[in-house]
Amino acid sequence: MIGLNGRNFLSTLDFSPHEVRSLVQLALQLKRGETTVDLAGLVATLMFFAPSVRTRISCQSSLAKLGGTGIVVNPGSDAYALEIEDGVVMDGATAEHVKEVAPVVSRLCDWIGIRKSELVTQGSTTADVTTSYDELKADRFINAYAKHATVPVINLESNSFHPLQGLADMATMVEKLGEPKQRKYVLTWAWHPKSLPVATPHSQLLAAADLGMEVTVLRPPGYSLDAGVMAAAKDRVESLGGSLNETDDIEAAYRGADVVCAKSWGSLDYYGRFEDEPADKAHLRKEWVVDEPKMDLTGKGIFMHCLPVRRNIVVTDGVLDGPRSAVVDQAGNRLWTAGAVFAATRPEA
Ligand code: CP
Repeated sequence: MIGLNGRNFLSTLDFSPHEVRSLVQLALQLKRGETTVDLAGLVATLMFFAPSVRTRISCQSSLAKLGGTGIVVNPGSDAYALEIEDGVVMDGATAEHVKEVAPVVSRLCDWIGIRKSELVTQGSTTADVTTSYDELKADRFINAYAKHATVPVINLESNSFHPLQGLADMATMVEKLGEPKQRKYVLTWAWHPKSLPVATPHSQLLAAADLGMEVTVLRPPGYSLDAGVMAAAKDRVESLGGSLNETDDIEAAYRGADVVCAKSWGSLDYYGRFEDEPADKAHLRKEWVVDEPKMDLTGKGIFMHCLPVRRNIVVTDGVLDGPRSAVVDQAGNRLWTAGAVFAATRPEA
């Protein structure tokens, strides 16, 4: 078993590419029945400040299959509004401070999972009053919780990262491609009626980087991902013999790709105030949708998406229902990668 016991799982950037790959290997060994893990008597509290299907079920189900228990809390309705600021007079909406609740919950369970993205949940903590990407990317809530918790905190999706999704993408590419090193990976932006957070594309980019792939971020002008995440991905991928490029040339990017992973994200320039974005971006929908002619440019490339996905907006029925689509296998791997994270980070016996 890889020795990550007691460590938080907030971003794959907190782990070496080797450690990340070891988590993927453990997940695939669990899936194939080549190893077993006993989490009997261990409990995770899973807090969802935002909706979830795959993350919630994969965490609860993997814990159950490995002998542990997952308790889901929906803090918006099931718990007190939490404060994270130091020295605040708590005469407003917040009823409890993380300085108490994080160590208390740590006494009651063995991991704390948190999904909290301020773009999705408005109004539940004082951190929500910030709007710019530069403020939101600090992930102050989950970091405050992790600072005061005494058990591992697992990121179930924050403003900046969705590392469990990244691991599932890695496992899927290892299964589909064999050794993904130096195979061609395209993370393509897609139009969406809502401007979505960058957490998932950040972790998907890092996933391909940690596999040492030839990575292309394909996006229209104005939709670059976080410069710090791009720089970290470049360092990591180059250390493994791969590469990272960014382009808006759709045809060149698709040509010969082994993997096309689609995701929509909002412009960092307008984060938190997307209503100010130029209204003329609707034309990008037709240009950027993943369709069969584009996938034909790849040859035999597979299509990936984290789900949920809007059909015929992000990707056409033809691609999603066709043989190139890996999305159900990809989501299915969430079970095993979540299990690997709980197994690897569990407290020392
Ligand atoms: N991909 C993903 O995280 O799905 P959910 O939002 O359903 O958890």
